[in-house]
Amino acid sequence: MTKGWTKSDWRAKPRVQMPDYPDQADLKAVEAQLAKYPPLVFAGEARKLKKQLAEAAEGRAFLLQGGDCAESFSEFSADNIRDTFRVMLQMAVVLTYGAKVPVIKVGRMAGQFAKPRSAGTEVVGGVELPSYRGDIINGFDFDKASRVPDPQRMLQAYTQSAASLNLLRAFSTGGFADIHRVHAWTLGFAEHDKAERYRALSNRISDALDFMNAAGITSETAPSLATVDFYTSHEALLLEYEEALCRIDSITGQPVAGSGHMIWIGDRTRQPDGAHVEFARGVLNPIGLKCGPSTTAEDLKVLIAKLNPQNEPGRLTLIARFGAGKVGDHLPRLIKTVQEEGARVVWSCDPMHGNTIKAASGYKTRPFESVLREVREFFDIHKAEGTIPGGVHFEMTGKDVTECTGGLRAVKDEDLSDRYHTACDPRLNASQSLELAFLVSEELSSRRDVQRCVAL
Ligand code: PEP
Ligand code: CO
Repeated sequence: MTKGWTKSDWRAKPRVQMPDYPDQADLKAVEAQLAKYPPLVFAGEARKLKKQLAEAAEGRAFLLQGGDCAESFSEFSADNIRDTFRVMLQMAVVLTYGAKVPVIKVGRMAGQFAKPRSAGTEVVGGVELPSYRGDIINGFDFDKASRVPDPQRMLQAYTQSAASLNLLRAFSTGGFADIHRVHAWTLGFAEHDKAERYRALSNRISDALDFMNAAGITSETAPSLATVDFYTSHEALLLEYEEALCRIDSITGQPVAGSGHMIWIGDRTRQPDGAHVEFARGVLNPIGLKCGPSTTAEDLKVLIAKLNPQNEPGRLTLIARFGAGKVGDHLPRLIKTVQEEGARVVWSCDPMHGNTIKAASGYKTRPFESVLREVREFFDIHKAEGTIPGGVHFEMTGKDVTECTGGLRAVKDEDLSDRYHTACDPRLNASQSLELAFLVSEELSSRRDVQRCVAL
């Protein structure tokens, strides 16, 4: 327990990437209202996730974290939630098959609304306005009124998160996620190669399930076949919202972020003495920390000490996001730092945020080749260092969007405008997500082969 910490201590620290609300009275009223609402998640769930992540740190589980860059009010629908959930189930099947370990499923969902921006303002056609910072803060439309930070948006984000989580809980335990439905999760993959691979895998799983059924092991006798644990996560950027949803765990007496199971600190807000680190250090949830090229060994040491002073396994996930071609420059030095500190961390790979470019058409995109390359580099380096690649972190959707170029269906620069729906960064579509899962699965199974050889 972080002695002497209170949920509002962050207010005395330097803050970046947070809005200045013009209407302070309204802000106070919204904070007071949120503080009375039920938490979205419970401490016991966050502790359970932490235990599972401790397994990932040791290579006995693998973290799959994924979802929208930014959830939005306008794209909120049951279908969108279902499709992302379903593609994550498919990816988890593919990964479990390769890794032969449980896959921990964590959505960037039910709370991923606030966005850090590289510039404070945006210029369109000679007009300069404050940047869009996510639907929980201001509006996407490019007009002056929309861009004013509005505290009331926090209430809508809370309501949307509660409804999303309610549906996710129903999907997780109400029959949809039963492994016997492994074939039914196939989306519109019908006509290409990876769909064939997924179907072949599903057939093998079905065969195994038939065998187990004959031996009396069914969803009724083994309920774990019928349900999954599915967790939520988001960047804890808007600290007024996070503070208002902070609660005390009745079992441990520790503060818990009630806004989502796992929260992370972004690459732009990880100042060791800043407000975001101050908030995250006091709550018991698993914490993610984005590590980009500018992460220094000195900072990382302080951050590890602040965020995980007890060296509790599963507490801290380091999410590496360097960009293809740069992993070799940064990951080995940070692995060395972690080893020097004797820190127990989960190493996860975010191959998205270091690979964003502007296409000739003006759209922000990510070449799928770069995404694949960064993942390969991440695995290669862990292999060379003898350390454990514990997870992956993707911006993805179950929809057939055209936001990242490449992939088997070869989205081209000129296709980007077809179905470009993201409120922020470009996401992998369902087909690209599955393709990536197969790559990661191959990396994980080759790692297992190496381990087996070493053991022999
Ligand atoms: C994100 O995950 O959406 C994000 C902004 O990442 P990063 O902080 O790594 O840039
Ligand atoms: Co993003």
